[in-house]
Amino acid sequence: MNKHYIRPAAPSDGQMISTLIIHTVCETNASDYSPKVIEQICTNFSLENVLRKMQIRDVFVCLDEDHCAGTISLEGNKLHSLFVDPNLQRQNIGKQLVIYLENHALTRGQTELYLSSSITAVPFYERLGYLLIKFEERRNGSTYLMKKQLSNLA
Ligand SMILES: CC(C)(COP(=O)(O)OP(=O)(O)OC[C@H]1O[C@@H](n2cnc3c(N)ncnc32)[C@H](O)[C@@H]1OP(=O)(O)O)[C@@H](O)C(=O)NCCC(=O)NCCS
Repeated sequence: MNKHYIRPAAPSDGQMISTLIIHTVCETNASDYSPKVIEQICTNFSLENVLRKMQIRDVFVCLDEDHCAGTISLEGNKLHSLFVDPNLQRQNIGKQLVIYLENHALTRGQTELYLSSSITAVPFYERLGYLLIKFEERRNGSTYLMKKQLSNLA
């Protein structure tokens, strides 16, 4: 039986989401971005900023018992903020979160999904059928714009 489950996040989840993201950025993304950029990304995911984003995005958490194993969000037709606990990566949690969000986006009437991938996650999204559109150069962390047609989902 799958011991992980995904549910919509509540404001009371804000602290565990912020903690998970900051930990994951420092552990997993640090090899692809400078320490200054990593610090800026962590600031973007302070508790205050996570709670602010929750007001405009549909945010979901993947729980491993009471522990926050991962998170993902949707704003319009854009997937945001996918992070999986470094100790639980490569166990299909990221893939389950993306599939969950794709289905949620479909119920919201979206037929295509965009995302700005970290350098770190491009091969992961390519495995899930996302196509690279362009490099997005930014001083606070360059990303790759990617896209998937949801109408092709099974
Ligand atoms: C990217 C991330 C979410 C992937 O989560 P994960 O739970 O480890 O990924 P999964 O186990 O679901 O992997 C799904 C597939 O992608 C592959 N994959 C995962 N990470 C990969 C990587 N870095 N390079 C190549 N393939 C990768 C897996 O092997 C698996 O392939 P399979 O279906 O053929 O077995 C996770 O590494 C992470 O949190 N990274 C740091 C944060 C980040 O960069 N997020 C993206 C922000 S846009």
